[in-house]
Amino acid sequence: MISRETIENIISAVRIEEVIGDFISLRRRGVNLLGLCPFHNEKTPSFTVSPAKGIYKCFGCGKAGNGVGFIMEHEHLTYPEALRYLAKKYQIEIDEEEQTPEQLQEISEKESLFNLNEFARKYFSSALFNTEEGKAVGLAYFREREIREDIIKKFQLGFSPDKWSAFAEHAIMEGYKKEILLKTGLATEKDGKLYDRFHSRVVFPIHSASGRTIGFGGRILTSDKNRPKYVNSPESEIYNKSKTLYGIYFARTAIAQKDNCLLVEGYTDVISLHQSGIENVVASSGTSLTTDQVRMIQRYTSNITILYDGDPAGIKASFRGIDMVLEQGMNVRIVLFPDNEDPDSYARKHHPLETEKFISSNAVNFISFKTKLLLEETKNDPVKKAGLIKDIVASISLIPDAITRTLFIRECADMMMVPEQVLVNELNKIRRNRLNKELNAQGGVQDIPAPDVIAPPQSKVEADTSSAESQEKEIMRLLLLYGTDIVHIEQTDENNYKVKVPVMVADYMVHDIRGDELEFSNTVYAAIFEEYRSGIDLDQVPERSFFLGHEEKEIAYAAVDLIFTPYELSQNWLKHNVMIDMEEEKLLVRLDYSLLSFKARKIDLLIGELQKKLHGNDSAEDVKIIQTRFKELKAKSVQIHGKLNRIVIR
Ligand code: CTP
Ligand code: MN
Repeated sequence: MISRETIENIISAVRIEEVIGDFISLRRRGVNLLGLCPFHNEKTPSFTVSPAKGIYKCFGCGKAGNGVGFIMEHEHLTYPEALRYLAKKYQIEIDEEEQTPEQLQEISEKESLFNLNEFARKYFSSALFNTEEGKAVGLAYFREREIREDIIKKFQLGFSPDKWSAFAEHAIMEGYKKEILLKTGLATEKDGKLYDRFHSRVVFPIHSASGRTIGFGGRILTSDKNRPKYVNSPESEIYNKSKTLYGIYFARTAIAQKDNCLLVEGYTDVISLHQSGIENVVASSGTSLTTDQVRMIQRYTSNITILYDGDPAGIKASFRGIDMVLEQGMNVRIVLFPDNEDPDSYARKHHPLETEKFISSNAVNFISFKTKLLLEETKNDPVKKAGLIKDIVASISLIPDAITRTLFIRECADMMMVPEQVLVNELNKIRRNRLNKELNAQGGVQDIPAPDVIAPPQSKVEADTSSAESQEKEIMRLLLLYGTDIVHIEQTDENNYKVKVPVMVADYMVHDIRGDELEFSNTVYAAIFEEYRSGIDLDQVPERSFFLGHEEKEIAYAAVDLIFTPYELSQNWLKHNVMIDMEEEKLLVRLDYSLLSFKARKIDLLIGELQKKLHGNDSAEDVKIIQTRFKELKAKSVQIHGKLNRIVIR
């Protein structure tokens, strides 16, 4: 039991930004700090920390609490465990009563796995440094690999003696349970006898991000081809391989500081790079990268540099994993090591500064790396080249950020010597197909109500006359519902004949609104409008489904909202009891009516603003300018309202 007094001491010592800052990189935003939430997957930060209040809250997933709560949640600890963690961090001594045997029994199973691992780690370390066998075999091995003693100690490397069950026997004698030995995998059982998993190997403890030992890897000391080079702890309640990165505990500060994470394959690569002073490095330990591992890195940085030592075939096999990283919105760069060198061997042969320089000057972005690598194979084969284009554009299409996509498309077009537009078309095709598939899977588009069925307004709330929200909303709805439909607009040609010209609804509306230089005050609507605008400029009017599955949640939500909720009809529409159908003539009337209402409201709002200015302004010159503008707007307002009133709604 931790005394009440100690608990108070701990809580008052806690600086929440320091506690959370150990796990996530936080950036200052006003009085608060902001970062990527560790509890759910997000690409734009909504995790907020208030140093003044000592609390955190994620506006994405709703998790919130104080420093103790954060540690409980993040490290999966109980309340007393979290307090102990914080006491250690702030060097506060815990005065507690001796634990009774009953209390010992109550320690959770997880805790007993951690305890045994900790015991094993110390045992292996002591076997390495304090036994003749350890010194002669284990230390000699590390020395041969040129791993310095301070690095051995930092990574807590150890040695497991050449006896079948030396460790297991020792652990049992010290009171550890067989069941736990088996669960951690430190021992295996055969014919009722226990065997040490790591016997006769050097041992690499694997740490969680907070530094607890969750598993081990053990390497043989010979080149015996009949035994596996490495054995690793099995998965357990505390060790989940796909959620673990070797070295993360030692690397996380450097990753956040350098704003980059180096990814290597093996234990020794991590260790050698550390020895060369390069500390922002973790290993996937021989498996391909998982989404969970990427998210772990993403808490500290959005830049990842993969160090490869493989042959092209091996690298190609890893492309799919890298697509997944791109999809997470990470920037991926690649460094290819020379033949027969891995980061470990390279770092040993070169001066630390050389190694650092090699990495920084050979890192190329993933897309151009992939392009270059595959381009060599497809030389002069147009069919293969077409396949390559599709392949690379598919990778680019996964990148969530539109600007980054555009830059990569441009670079790729240059490298492949094809027009950029070809790649853009392919990109749009892929993204559209994907969205349609996603929407179909959700049963999305089919649920859009037929446009001629209109529910009555939900409530009789007075229209808000201080904003143009409902007019903006109506414009948006029309764009989303009919944007890609064709209407025929009457125009006069050069011979003064009246002709009907086919125009896309989106084109018609965007043109009209842009002509008057009006803007949307609702930022989401402004963003949707901007998508239409740029789409029209590129001759690629976006489909409704594009917005419904938009990468930016606000846009997708707004689009769904606009299409699925009942119409709030303006008074006029209601009075005439109109039903909107798809007849072109009626649609045109409706478009004009909405555009005019939008303009009328915007202009009236401007007039209101000018009126306020006129009252509160004493500079004679300004008054003149404002008055002129006021008159202009008034005239326009009268004109528009006139037009509005002339619109006949049948
Ligand atoms: N690995 C493993 N089991 C194996 C081989 C490899 O778990 N039988 C994992 C280890 O985590 C290893 C990583 O894959 O660190 C990379 O493998 P490899 O390149 O073969 O090992 P190195 O780290 O280069 O080890 P060494 O330099 O000691 O040979
Ligand atoms: Mn190696």
